[in-house]
Amino acid sequence: MLNKIAVIGGGNIGGVVVQEVASRKLARSVALVDVKEPEFAKGKCLDIAEGTPVIGADINVEGSKEYDVIEGADIVINTAGVPRTTRPDGTLPTREELLATNLKITDFVSAGIAKYAPDAIVISIANPLDAIVYRLHMNLKKDRSKLLGMAGVLDSARYRLFIAQEAGVSVENVEAMVLGGHGDDMLPIRSACRIAGMPVEKFVSPEKLEAIENRTRKAGGEVVKLLGSGSAFVSPAWSALEMAEAIIYDKRKIVPVCTLLKGEYGVDGLFIGVPAILGKNGVEQIIEMDLTDEEKELFKKSVASVKKTADEVVAMTK
Ligand code: APR
Repeated sequence: MLNKIAVIGGGNIGGVVVQEVASRKLARSVALVDVKEPEFAKGKCLDIAEGTPVIGADINVEGSKEYDVIEGADIVINTAGVPRTTRPDGTLPTREELLATNLKITDFVSAGIAKYAPDAIVISIANPLDAIVYRLHMNLKKDRSKLLGMAGVLDSARYRLFIAQEAGVSVENVEAMVLGGHGDDMLPIRSACRIAGMPVEKFVSPEKLEAIENRTRKAGGEVVKLLGSGSAFVSPAWSALEMAEAIIYDKRKIVPVCTLLKGEYGVDGLFIGVPAILGKNGVEQIIEMDLTDEEKELFKKSVASVKKTADEVVAMTK
């Protein structure tokens, strides 16, 4: 059992993360920081703490609007950000406006992590994922094993669900990877998609697969539209916890991780979603997959989008 997990941002995703850390008993203590008034994080944690006797979890759940609550955490899960929702006047913030706001929040978050949990392994969920992880990297200058973005686990889970539904089989039978950036040109890797070890094409037609892959790329937006306000939160929280559990239990599990590439896949200095082994040290090894020529081209396109985002983040720093 880990000593302490900290969660930054206690909204929809952060709330589920804290609740799941408690119910899965992943650490002796879970801390939540959220700047929302009057004492939002404290209230959220009191609610969860008061339920721990019922679920039999001897875990300390503490919330605060001050960052010192995260002191000494072994793992930090970052969910702080403003989701893309309609303003009261009916307009939507532009992508740039949203990015500028979220980068400011990320600078604040980085300062808190640097001060109170400098050695923690950081798993970041906040969107725009590629931009936020890049900014955390610029600010925290962590070893690459210790800064991870969560996108691929969720994107792959969505792909797996849609394939399982189409094939009429258990989600447990479907193995799949979605790589690249966390944008519209993310890359579901059809050549690595297996149903009980068999190629997916044995069960699903190429036309259906194409439709599923398109749906996967836009799956986040589909949920946003249906909800009316806010974005997906249970599946992102569970996905980040899959990564956290791989680290906590030193599973050496291969999952898609948004990680800093240093020459792998011909990319240097960008955070891209690729398969990696997660264990007690965080990212322990990056796996270079064999891609088809078509997939290689699409991967390059996705990398180009991530590079554009990273350049924007750097430009917004000046
Ligand atoms: N420090 C700590 N918490 C902060 C800060 C900050 N500087 N700034 C904002 N927060 C908090 C907000 O007060 C809010 O409670 O982050 C929380 C975000 O919660 P929600 O708005 O409910 O958003 P959520 O659905 O949880 O998504 C969080 O992940 O998937 C992405 O797009 C999503 O970027 C968003 C993030």
